[in-house]
Amino acid sequence: MAKKADIGLVGLAVMGENLVLNMESKGFTVAVYNRTVEKVDNFVNGRGAGKNFIGCKSIDELIENVAAPRKIMLMVKAGKPVDDFIDMIAPKLEKGDILIDGGNSHFPDTVRRTRKLEEMGLRYIGTGVSGGEEGALLGPSMMPGGSTTAWPEVKPIFQAICAKVEDGSPCCEWVGADGAGHFVKMVHNGIEYGDMEMICEAYNMMKNVLGMSAAEMHEVFKEWNAGELDSYLIEITQAILKTVDPETGKPVVDVILDTAGQKGTGKWTSESALDLGAPAPTIAEAVFARCLSAIKEERVAASKVLTGPAINFTGDKKEFIEDIRKALYASKICSYAQGYQLMKLAAKEYNWDLNYGEIALMWRGGCIIRARFLGDIKKAFDKNPALANLLMDDFFKKVIDDCQASWRKVVAQAALSGVPVPAFSSALNYYDAYRSEVLPANLLQAQRDYFGAHTYERVDRARGEFFHTAWTEHSGNTTSTTYIA
Ligand code: 6PG
Repeated sequence: MAKKADIGLVGLAVMGENLVLNMESKGFTVAVYNRTVEKVDNFVNGRGAGKNFIGCKSIDELIENVAAPRKIMLMVKAGKPVDDFIDMIAPKLEKGDILIDGGNSHFPDTVRRTRKLEEMGLRYIGTGVSGGEEGALLGPSMMPGGSTTAWPEVKPIFQAICAKVEDGSPCCEWVGADGAGHFVKMVHNGIEYGDMEMICEAYNMMKNVLGMSAAEMHEVFKEWNAGELDSYLIEITQAILKTVDPETGKPVVDVILDTAGQKGTGKWTSESALDLGAPAPTIAEAVFARCLSAIKEERVAASKVLTGPAINFTGDKKEFIEDIRKALYASKICSYAQGYQLMKLAAKEYNWDLNYGEIALMWRGGCIIRARFLGDIKKAFDKNPALANLLMDDFFKKVIDDCQASWRKVVAQAALSGVPVPAFSSALNYYDAYRSEVLPANLLQAQRDYFGAHTYERVDRARGEFFHTAWTEHSGNTTSTTYIA
């Protein structure tokens, strides 16, 4: 009898195709199926020719060709297609078989699907896969969660195909129960939105305040990539800035329309932060910055009506470029601090035992946010797994101390120049609010109590005791109850 496959895969689009090539290159036999079946032949006779693939023309054939307990991975569009395939495949599986979703699914869907499949006696994994086309082929970062007993079954495959850091550690570990893997991938994407926006703000300051060309900025980003900011996103930014459009001879970046697209994972991160009461303003600002960029026609009209200051930079250009670098680094730390705070609140709410050092390691290689400084985040959480906030770690405290004068200068210069830097400034506000012993929420509580008898706690009494003031002659003694909507 012919050898059965180690794993089956549904969905031979860009990510699926590259992922199975990666699996095969590590010695695994893969059974492949695609809804448009011609794609199966095209693949098996094309990039997959002469390799250990079993082309399947139906779901039954796919199930037939995978060794038990079956591992079948879906690499299809998030949302309804995942549910459709689950409904098609799950009833045909046997007890203990494992269905894996490797798309960018929303974590509540993964929670629901894990429950459903476990009730059927099956096992389910929702895994984040990051790194785009190249990552899928050469080693992505993988963030699996779901049915815990399924992990030892897929671990040898996942840890063989994923990216590795310098010491050989895999950028893939078990994240936690049900939707934990997809939650962590969602936060990865929220952080990705923040990183991208902050790089764009640095670019915008250099372009509009310092009047630099794409070629000049290419040199700056190249230099930054050799230091503390060493990361995939800075690396691709320097490469982008030197690329010339063959049609016009201009830098490609200068012929690209300034309207950002988005598929929703940054929005989900921000929604989740609001749901959990996690302060993640920089990530949210990055999403809103994309929304504002998208209303191009309105902005064009407004630019002809609304006024701002004339840009007048009189300082030392070289020094200011270094200020921008430091503003970017400090803002980045705050954005990651927010992402980690969000994960901490989610772990509590959804009963996940998240290992924050491991998460930093998973993001250290293979994924879009891979960066040298994730090694420092890992060290911070290894040193203190209960760290309340990254900003409270000695290493990061020192970095912020070193960067903050520059950071403030850049945000102030941006405001004086009328150049928007929503992520830089929101990160600075986050920093200043987080380090404030006293915020003006005392007045806010007074306002709530004044108009709605919502009560307040007092500085001179124990927490949890609530008081009401009769602010006007119409105030009664009845107070409103405390609850969170
Ligand atoms: C990754 C990316 C990827 C995401 C793209 C596009 O980790 O490989 O996060 O999953 O789909 O970055 O996202 P937007 O279209 O929302 O920018």
